[in-house]
Amino acid sequence: MDFETHDYDVLVIGAGGAGLRAAIEASAAGVQVGLICKSLLGKAHTVMAEGGVAAALANVDDRDSWKVHFADTMRGGQYVNNWRMAELHAKEAPDRVRELEAWGAVFDRTADGRILQRNFGGHRYPRLAHVGDRTGLELIRTLQDEGVHRGIDVHMEFTVVSLLATDGRASGVVGYERERGRFKVFGASAVILATGGAGRAYKITSNSWEGTGDGHSLAYHAGAELLDMEFIQFHPTGMIWPPSVQGILVTEGVRGEGGILLNRDGRRFMFDDIPDAYRKQTADNEDEGWRYTQGDKNARRPPELLTRDHVARCIMREVRDGRGSPHGGVFLDIAWIKKRLANGEEHIRRKLPSMYHQFKELADIDITKEPMEVGPTTHYIMGGVRVDGDTQMSSVQGLFAAGECAAGINGANRLGGNSLSDLLVFGKRAGEHAAAFAREHRRVSIDTAAARAAADRALKPFEAGPGGGENPYAIQSALQEMMQALVGIVRNEDDMQRALQGLTALRTRVERAVVTGHREYNPGWHTSIDLGHLLTVSEAITRSAIERKESRGGHFREDFPEKDPRFAMFNVVTAKASDGSMQVRRVPLPAMPAELKQIIEDQK
Ligand code: FUM
Repeated sequence: MDFETHDYDVLVIGAGGAGLRAAIEASAAGVQVGLICKSLLGKAHTVMAEGGVAAALANVDDRDSWKVHFADTMRGGQYVNNWRMAELHAKEAPDRVRELEAWGAVFDRTADGRILQRNFGGHRYPRLAHVGDRTGLELIRTLQDEGVHRGIDVHMEFTVVSLLATDGRASGVVGYERERGRFKVFGASAVILATGGAGRAYKITSNSWEGTGDGHSLAYHAGAELLDMEFIQFHPTGMIWPPSVQGILVTEGVRGEGGILLNRDGRRFMFDDIPDAYRKQTADNEDEGWRYTQGDKNARRPPELLTRDHVARCIMREVRDGRGSPHGGVFLDIAWIKKRLANGEEHIRRKLPSMYHQFKELADIDITKEPMEVGPTTHYIMGGVRVDGDTQMSSVQGLFAAGECAAGINGANRLGGNSLSDLLVFGKRAGEHAAAFAREHRRVSIDTAAARAAADRALKPFEAGPGGGENPYAIQSALQEMMQALVGIVRNEDDMQRALQGLTALRTRVERAVVTGHREYNPGWHTSIDLGHLLTVSEAITRSAIERKESRGGHFREDFPEKDPRFAMFNVVTAKASDGSMQVRRVPLPAMPAELKQIIEDQK
């Protein structure tokens, strides 16, 4: 097997917002940059952050500042966030948004021409700079233009199967072209993982086929640590009907624009359960909530804008107690605002154009006239590669991670809109520090035997085993069913122990996975390779979730339904032991400086 090889100073894996932003920064630092995408350039989960990018620009409410954004992010993450990342993120997000505008992003405007900002869950003030409900798309378009203009080398439709490391340092990757099935090796002085999330481990998800946890798994097998893997974000509002569209995102922007949640009796159930930490800021009646969405600075926010983990659980409670909608969700009603706004229909179409078309085309629902049926969908993983907050470098020298596949900033729960600002802030930082690393460290040579072995492993499904082998799609579907049922929104020890046993059985089945045909654009083969990543990530999620014996943010255990202050003192870290087994351990949270503690106190 002769490999075509490419060499770069900095190699970026993943071309969503974080990867593109990292590549731009590394290229601006004057080093040679290669960018690999699993899919076509521009097709990334970033576009699913529809409602906006969170940055304390204070354009709509001048009480906003980085300090309030920092405190909101920490409270949303239930204080197990990496405080340094939360601090950098809050401080740097406004500049990253203004820079995007300078590169051509066309944001919605205030009456006096500044970038418009809208309300979102857990953000104290209107903070989400947006482009209707297509913000992620505009962000990707802008970064893509900037990256292409800089002359970055892009390798599309390329799947990485293994990260190569020599003497504890990242040295490159091996993978194959999806179209031709040809293997290639990329050597690099520094590698940045920006592969996004792992929603495809679950049955109901807003993630597209690419979201199989590749970066998490590649990093783990190369010796890096994973952090916070128990924290999964179930976005409260995904489509639930018809079945073919189940999981597709319904942006939080709908609630930001005044949409309300109703059960089958027409009751606005979010008023029934307001957590103590948010009670003072949450309206207790419809009128006040509406005034808040209309910009009344003296009003309190509607309960639909509580954090996503809480809203998702309230929806599950209504469904479980028999008050759900006909297809097992609840109703999200934006049409009601016509009672308050004379131009309501036009307002909805202008503010939420994608949602209007999405429901019209996919569900034959006119959202200006009827409520939508929605339910939780696996949207985001707070856990990821453990990195240094300033540089984004992992514990493997020369290996960096940014965006969803890195962990820290979000703690136990991410606030909507913080993903877009996260990927801008930390994509830039990863690019900058990876370029500096590449300058300072000579390239290490590639271990060709390891590259060859990785390629051989990847080709194994073409060798039919005794008994005909297993269909990769059947294995993937069994995994998704199991993770949804046993390690989903509501968890308990017994279920998760069963999931661990199930994962062992699935691993045996993956060993026997078989594909037919040849290597040229063979989706069955691609799925068999995704399965390896999905199993690694699913095991890390399950083991970490067993270790955290409490409920916090995106991790809810019915056998430990309360938050336990002892568990606020550490993060759960996953690493590969020398015998190849997966180990989890508790790592104490670093002490927060007094001035940041004071900010949190002041904001309370
Ligand atoms: O609901 C949304 O528009 C999603 C935003 C996000 O996940 O940040």
